[in-house]
Amino acid sequence: MNFETHIGTDITKAAAYLNSNEIVAIPTETVYGLAANALNELAVSNVFAAKKRPLYNPLIVHIKDVSEVEKYATDVPELAYQLFETFSPGPLTIILPKKDIVPDITTAGKNDVALRIPNHPFSLSLLQMLDFPLAAPSANPFGYISPTCADHVYKQLKGKIPYILDGGPCKSGLESTVIAFRENKAYLHRLGALGIGELKKIIPDISFETKDDKAPVSPGMLKQHYSPNTILLQCDHIDQLLFEQRDKKIGIISFKNSYPIDADKLVVLSPSGDLNEAASKLYAALHYMDALDIDLILVEFMPEEGIGSAMNDRLERAASKFIK
Ligand code: TXA
Ligand code: MG
Repeated sequence: MNFETHIGTDITKAAAYLNSNEIVAIPTETVYGLAANALNELAVSNVFAAKKRPLYNPLIVHIKDVSEVEKYATDVPELAYQLFETFSPGPLTIILPKKDIVPDITTAGKNDVALRIPNHPFSLSLLQMLDFPLAAPSANPFGYISPTCADHVYKQLKGKIPYILDGGPCKSGLESTVIAFRENKAYLHRLGALGIGELKKIIPDISFETKDDKAPVSPGMLKQHYSPNTILLQCDHIDQLLFEQRDKKIGIISFKNSYPIDADKLVVLSPSGDLNEAASKLYAALHYMDALDIDLILVEFMPEEGIGSAMNDRLERAASKFIK
């Protein structure tokens, strides 16, 4: 379908579209989501179509508060409640056995549903106004970089959706951390904005299931994902590569270092070395670089601590189509 896409801050208008089974891009604290009534098959199928997302890839269902968990999920372990109560609203998604009210298309035929309470005043107000939860994947075409401001969404999806609810730039800038339970044990499905250190305060023995790309449980774990169109390399010796590749037009994304190239081809994510600031700017830097006329994007490895691990995870996937 072809729409004239508007950007605005009118939550009532966003609710009206959602009530008519249309899709609306919404701000969250992580990335912008492409939202629709999670309980309506037609609305959800519009999301898959707008995003060109394969139907085997389930959507996260966004709810307004923890009291809604048992409307959509069953057999909820005590630990899941503890996690929601500690980290929600926030960048935490928990996969739980689903109730029949959630249609199969939303969960891609799985018997589990992924639930999250987003931490953004606009999304929370919107959820308060609606009498259904919102299925929302990141608001990017499948496989491309997630959007962290309304303008990213507009550039990628204009004409495909009627409305973008503009809640400003996303605070954390990386997708939520995804957790699942099997036999009451917690597994990490996707590294994300909620750091492992934080999680371990509640679940010291959490197991990792994030690098298995042969049979990914969660398609966000696909080896190639989150990719710009320009070739991207994550590397340690950028100075050396700059020299070796001097016949190429190169852009650099660094954590806090500067490099001897044109200022418009260098993004220093956080000159003061603050990883959270760096994470919030990472996707915007990738969008920016991808729009430049360059041959190659070089990105530093981030420190493997806090949100740095999730940033490296995304960058590895963004790069991996070019590294065999
Ligand atoms: O921060 C976020 O999580 C953002 C905002 C908009 O909430 N959403 C997001 O959605 O990143 P998406 O669709 O791009 O990524 C959701 C991930 C995918 O890897 C998906 O496969 C996984 O969660 N997922 C969703 N439901 C699942 C389920 N029932 N079982 C296993 N994995 C699931
Ligand atoms: Mg996504």
